[in-house]
Amino acid sequence: MNQTLADKNILLIISGGIAAYKSLDLIRRLKERGAGVRCVLTQGGAQFVTPLSVAALSEEAVFQDLFSLKDESEMGHIRLSREADLLVVAPASADLMAKMAAGLANDLASTVLLATDKPVLLAPAMNTVMWDHPATRRNFRTLLDDGLHAVGPGQGDLACGEVGAGRMSEPLEIVAAVENIIGGQSAGPATGPSTGQSGAAPLKGRRAIVTSGPTYEAIDPVRYLANRSSGKQGHAIAAALAGLGAEVVLVAGPNNQPDPGGVSVRDIESATQMLAACEAALPADIAVCAAAVSDWRVAGEAEQKMKKDGSGQPPAFNLVENPDILATLSQMNGGRPSLVVGFAAETEKVVDHAQSKRTRKGCDWIVANDVGAGTGVMGGDENTVHLITADNVEAWPKMPKDAVATALAKRIADHFTNHFGSE
Ligand code: CTP
Repeated sequence: MNQTLADKNILLIISGGIAAYKSLDLIRRLKERGAGVRCVLTQGGAQFVTPLSVAALSEEAVFQDLFSLKDESEMGHIRLSREADLLVVAPASADLMAKMAAGLANDLASTVLLATDKPVLLAPAMNTVMWDHPATRRNFRTLLDDGLHAVGPGQGDLACGEVGAGRMSEPLEIVAAVENIIGGQSAGPATGPSTGQSGAAPLKGRRAIVTSGPTYEAIDPVRYLANRSSGKQGHAIAAALAGLGAEVVLVAGPNNQPDPGGVSVRDIESATQMLAACEAALPADIAVCAAAVSDWRVAGEAEQKMKKDGSGQPPAFNLVENPDILATLSQMNGGRPSLVVGFAAETEKVVDHAQSKRTRKGCDWIVANDVGAGTGVMGGDENTVHLITADNVEAWPKMPKDAVATALAKRIADHFTNHFGSE
């Protein structure tokens, strides 16, 4: 077994839920990889698994009480979080997430979570109606916006006998998310249950259009409006889809990336040209709009280089809005790609803005990324994204753009396998 978590200390918080039985296996899986695991068991959690089994598997004392004289003398709640590299809450119950979102600290688990400055990974688990409740969705969104990581929940048979979203991710999926957060490894996020995707070319026979890079909007023959997009993410997605067997047309604005192998590249400059190239590449099963399209262009590009006129006054630009390529592809009547994925570059309220962007533009999924100052996403090699679908929000750990591309391509392949079967 690869010691991917050697010398790492995980504080596992087990809250109340039937899925707590999976946390016993999670302890084993983390320890197999070299991690030290200490556990906090909430009152609710102790209804589902016993302190004795948790202690036996973790080979550590189990912490249960905020006001335990014994625990506080040997290991205070501040030390519990200070000595951990990462806190994992699995299962994360609706109740505990509500406390966390409100900043409550009225038991050991919530106090440790409020007192920590370490990364926290949530593995939510609950009944599907509770998961769908606006209060839970609001709390979960708040926690994601606060910078917590999440894995799952997945869809499927729930232990309470119902079917739907709310199923805790499997222990190995949680371990992969832990490895990603701790090691910044490129294994891709573990998000929801595995679908048993098989075969090296699950997208064989599918056509995909990917937009990438910035657009340049001419002001005159030598000047243009542009943005800092590098094209790294879009190019990596085109490569990843081609790697899974899709026939890919990459419509790319000006960039310095090498053309991905096995992909047809259409180089364009402006948003208008990007739209025309996308329309020419139809029909397609998949469209992924990763380009940072300029929202505006200058009305009436000057035919000759603009000159200073000696008045000391700068020229006034009239801007007109560019066509929205993502919205156009999403809202086509007839011939719409069956899966349209957009990106949302946001600097605040990332999940909220991205969710309304998904609805407004009419695409199926949105990959939301925080491009705020200091994140280094624009032009950088790493990305921290949320995948937003009609009924779910997944926080993926920070990872290289290549790994985001691999994970997204896999999700797309899973989507087609689930909806149309493997071909
Ligand atoms: N997009 C597009 N055509 C445009 C503008 C944006 O296809 N003219 C696509 C991008 O490729 C991305 C998504 O729309 O997939 C969102 O882009 P973003 O810049 O985040 O959003 P905006 O449309 O600019 O919306 P806002 O101004 O509200 O941020």
